[in-house]
Parts: sequence; C-alpha cells; structure tokens
Amino acid sequence: MTDQTAKFTLGDKSVESPVLKGTVGPDVIDIRKLYGQTGAFTFDPGFTSTASCESQITYIDGDEGVLLHRGYPIGELAEHSSFMEVAHLLLNGELPNGDELAKFENTITRHTMVHEQLTKFYSGFRRDAHPMAIMCGVVGALSAFYHDSTDISDPQQRMIASHRLIAKMPTIAAMAYKYSVGQPFVYPDNNLSYTGNFLRMTFGVPAEEYEVIPAVERAMDRIFILHADHEQNASTSTVRLAGSSGANPFACMAAGIACLWGPAHGGANEAALNMLREIGRPERIPEFIARAKDKNDPFRLMGFGHRVYKNYDPRATVMQKTVREVFEALKVNDPVFDVALQLEEMALNDDYFREKKLFPNVDFYSGVILSAIGFPTTMFTVLFALARTVGWVAQWNEMISDPAQKIGRPRQLYTGAPQRSYVPMDQR
Ligand code: CMC
Repeated sequence: MTDQTAKFTLGDKSVESPVLKGTVGPDVIDIRKLYGQTGAFTFDPGFTSTASCESQITYIDGDEGVLLHRGYPIGELAEHSSFMEVAHLLLNGELPNGDELAKFENTITRHTMVHEQLTKFYSGFRRDAHPMAIMCGVVGALSAFYHDSTDISDPQQRMIASHRLIAKMPTIAAMAYKYSVGQPFVYPDNNLSYTGNFLRMTFGVPAEEYEVIPAVERAMDRIFILHADHEQNASTSTVRLAGSSGANPFACMAAGIACLWGPAHGGANEAALNMLREIGRPERIPEFIARAKDKNDPFRLMGFGHRVYKNYDPRATVMQKTVREVFEALKVNDPVFDVALQLEEMALNDDYFREKKLFPNVDFYSGVILSAIGFPTTMFTVLFALARTVGWVAQWNEMISDPAQKIGRPRQLYTGAPQRSYVPMDQR
C-alpha cells in the first residue's frame, strides 16, 4: 500500500481508491470497491491495464526486456541452472541446495510413469491427430486416475498433484509423438535426467540403446527453462480462472493446454517455423515484411511482437545463441536460420516494426532448434506445454493458498437487446 489514492468522479459520486505498491513495477489502483460505490464497472478487454491477481513468482519489465523468476534474471537461470532447479524455484520460492535438489529430482523421477490404463486413451485418437488435441484429452483424463491428489483444500495433495503433473508431462508428450509415428511407447528410465529421459522416450526405440547427446540435452533443458513461466499470460490466467472455481488441478492444466494451443500464444512457435520455411530464401523476405505491414492482409510475422515486451524478449536472445550450439553439436545447418537472422535484421530496421516496438519473441528461434533436434512442428507447442506446466502448477498453488482468493468472475459491458417479451412463432 502507498499513501497515495486515486480519485474517480462519476456524476455526483466521488471515490478514493487506494494505490498498491509491488516490490518493483507499476503501482496498482485497487478498484475493488468501485462498483459498490459508483455502480459502474471498468472496461478492459484483453486485460491491457488490469492486474488480475497478486503474485510473487515472476516479474516482467516489458520496456526494459527483463524477466525475473523469484527475482533471478532468466538469462542467469538459463546459463547456470537446470530445469529441475527452476521448477523447484518456481514452485517453492527458492533455488534448492544440493540436498533439496536431489530430493526434488528423486520425487519427480518417482512419478514419471503413467497409469497403464491411460495408454488406452491414445488408441482412441486418429494417428494424424494433432498432439495438442491428444494432450488436452489425456491431461484432463488424469483427474480420473489420481483421485488421491484432487482435494485442493489439502496442501499435501496439491503438492503431490503438482509433482505428478511435472513428472508425467514428458511421458504423456512423448507418448503423443510415438503414437503419431506408429512406434511403441517407451517407458521412462529413471537413471536419466528429466530432459534426457524425455528425449529417450521421444526418440528412442525398444530395438536399440538410445544415447542422449549431452549438448542436445542441455539445449532442450534450456528451452524448458525459457518456457517455464511467464507471469499472467493467457494460459496461466486460464489455469487460474479454471482453478478459482475449485476445479481439480488436472482439469485446470487441460484448460491451460487448450488456451496455449492458439497461434497468438504457444502455437506461435509452430507457425513461426512454418512461416520461415514458406519464406524459404532471403530474397523473399521483403515480400513477407510488406504483407505483415499491409492493413488489408491478416498476415503477421509469427514469432514477432508481444503484449508485454516492447523491447527484445530476453528469452529470444538465449534462443538465438542456443541455435548455434545445437547446430554445432549435431553438425547440421538449416538455411531457415539464415532466413530468420535476416528477417530479424530487416524487421528491426523497418519503421513499422520500430514504431510499434515489435521485436522477436521466444518463439522466433525456438522452432529452428526443435526442428534440428528432430521434432516435427506439431510437437513444438506440446514442448511449450510440458515446460509451462511448472509455471501453471506454481501459479495455481499460489492462487489456492491466497486467503483473498475468490472465484474469477469478470463483468461485461452489455450491448445486446434490452428486455422484451417473447414473440410466438406465428408472429415472427
Ligand atoms: N506482425 C505484424 N504486425 C504486428 C505483429 C506482428 N507479429 N504483432 C503486432 N502487430 C501490430 C498489429 O497489427 C497492431 O497494429 P495497429 O496498432 O496498427 O493495429 C499493433 O502491432 C499492436 O498489435 P496487437 O495485436 O494490438 O498487440 P497485442 O498485444 O494484442 O498482441 C501478440 C500481441 C503477441 C498477440 C501479437 O504481437 C502477435 O500476434 N504476434 C504474432 C504471434 C506470436 O508470435 N505470438 C507469440 C507471443 S510470445 C509467446 C507467448 O507468450 O505465448
């Protein structure tokens, strides 16, 4: 709380609203009593000026291009920590010491298998089903399997559900991939790291030993770190909204996955690589830039622009570096990377993109790396969901433990017909 107040005057009514102060970032006007005192709502579609909750997990300064998890800059976490460390940090508030990390990793490892009956769900899907469609269904179905961790009023059950979700997502995601290519599911190997295990379940086959390439494991782990949480983004807000009604955590995660799928959110990584491949060669870049600027063309540069970042997305910086590392480790070179680099340069020197402050976001380069590792584009958003599960469960836990928590119930500006009488069929 600050000693400032914001004054609103509406007709003969005047209201003073307290101004709240966060640790960093813009002050927040507390309008909770506004409706009661003035009879008027605020109107903010897309929440461009509205803080929907109080949170201690992630902070973004979009103008400066800063992203902090529990205070730690994303660049430092990506450089020095592992995804499991970041998961512990997001979920429990602090980086783990050696013992805490070993215990956390052990707990997650012990939950990597899924109930055998769950494997039957996959065969109900067409082989060409989008893996995000499978993820929505299978993750939602977890609530039918783990009844002992759906009582959200019990903090221990909430934590078990959170561990289960973090642990089982790689298994479920890898199974979605295996199903699409007609290969047998590969069971988890708990001797491997979280990320090594995921790579083996995805690319290994029972007929051969699978060798995890350390540079790829490290790159993949870093990609997971970069996607782990991002404040009150659309899918996280969806998870919070679904959870605010008391729905169980597995159902809430399925809601988050559904929201993430859209091309304006997690689906952008798939769309970005498809776009880069369609551009194909540097000579065609100006044509696509012109289309992105054309008001009469719905085309947008995918992987560009962000609701919050009006500067370079700090995650894109790490991604760009990681592309080079993966190419070097796998001894590959994809011309699409040159297209991406040149597209970025041309867009950043173009007045349209400069004036609108449109910069590459996390998705611009991630597809290039994932494709080099061997993932089909349809799996890209699944990988995002896998990593973001950590953020979702951390934010969901924070919300449920908040004593001020209420069901999320926005209001509206109604512009439909006023009350009228029913018209019988023969008089219409
Ligand atoms: N290409 C061309 N023009 C753009 C783009 C783009 N990628 N992004 C925004 N604009 C223009 C837009 O046309 C609008 O112009 P005007 O003011 O003249 O109407 C202006 O910039 C503001 O755009 P907006 O849609 O009002 O901004 P928003 O904050 O609602 O949307 C966004 C943010 C990410 C949905 C949007 O930038 C976009 O569609 N980008 C492409 C999709 C993408 O890469 N999404 C991934 C986001 S990062 C991963 C994640 O968090 O999920």
